[in-house]
Amino acid sequence: MVDIAEVETPVPTGEGVLVRVHAASVNRADLDGLYPRWQFIRAFNGLRRPRVKGLGLDVAGVVEAVGPEAHRLTAGDAVFGDLSAYGEGAFAEYVCAPEKAFQRMPPGLSFEEASTLPHSAILALQALRLRNGRTIRQGDRLLVEGASGNVGPFVVQIAKSMGAEVIGVSRGDKTDFVRSLGADQVIDYTAVDYTATGQRYDWIVAADAHHSLPASSRALSRRGAYVALGASTGWMLSSIVITPSIRLATGKFAGLLIWWKPFHAADVDRLWELVESGVVKPAIDRTYPLDDVVTALRYVDEGHARGKVVLTMDRSAS
Ligand SMILES: NC(=O)c1ccc[n+]([C@@H]2O[C@H](COP(=O)([O-])OP(=O)(O)OC[C@H]3O[C@@H](n4cnc5c(N)ncnc54)[C@H](OP(=O)(O)O)[C@@H]3O)[C@@H](O)[C@H]2O)c1
Repeated sequence: MVDIAEVETPVPTGEGVLVRVHAASVNRADLDGLYPRWQFIRAFNGLRRPRVKGLGLDVAGVVEAVGPEAHRLTAGDAVFGDLSAYGEGAFAEYVCAPEKAFQRMPPGLSFEEASTLPHSAILALQALRLRNGRTIRQGDRLLVEGASGNVGPFVVQIAKSMGAEVIGVSRGDKTDFVRSLGADQVIDYTAVDYTATGQRYDWIVAADAHHSLPASSRALSRRGAYVALGASTGWMLSSIVITPSIRLATGKFAGLLIWWKPFHAADVDRLWELVESGVVKPAIDRTYPLDDVVTALRYVDEGHARGKVVLTMDRSAS
């Protein structure tokens, strides 16, 4: 259950900073936190209800106050951040977290746009890292499963800028959206199973894996790489066993992204460059006021979103 409650505005201590939130974006991970698809996560997140009370990872706002040991940021700085490692709670009017949770916002972006980036765009960058001893080369064929969601659109944009031919996979009514992101071709997964067409890809990035690892790896070219970010519990557990055998038998890289570094500073720098050069352009489907957080979560959960859904904090009443 999601509740909105009035609480005391926190006071930053030590290296903490208090940020007045302007926008926060919704991620699949927020829903996973509410009712985990990976049941074993409950052992860490709380067996009966989530142990972490706050909700929301991606945040953009303005520093309101800083603790005595915070030296990098000052009041008035426009910042964005991923609160995954800092107690979450981005769906709020204020957040208080160590200063290292935040970076200054790239110039030229609205708070709404900036709030779409920390979790999803950084995941997209990390999914496109060196695999199997190589990075994306000009003309590589790269397929993005889940191209219409949170992470997928950033994968499409970044891979395109690296010279790849990008093939998106989405539901039929979202193919125009995926094409608008720059994809060269879009496959409607309700009509075509990309693993059964005989086509081969140098890279497959699955924001959400919907095919078995053996099937997906058969769609890879020789020395191709398949990286999944999320999947069902069954997929995850079977991947532990199957991943090494595929690598051994085929020389292809196929598996889950396991070394995720939330809001890693070097990746944030790279993201700045990609935003400044116009490669990364946040795609916002809808914005909702904070009071409509449940509607926003439901909209994403029911699979309606094309790109990101953003919560904005109404300042007119404050
Ligand atoms: N590995 C890590 O370290 C790590 C860290 C953080 C987060 N994560 C995970 O990364 C994932 C990020 O996903 P996200 O936020 O981008 O998810 P999302 O927005 O919910 O996207 C899911 C995508 O799956 C597609 N889809 C649904 N059913 C499908 C089917 N039958 N066949 C093919 N595609 C289908 C949807 O396409 P349509 O909308 O077109 O139906 C949608 O684009 C989450 O699972 C999150 O938990 C992983």
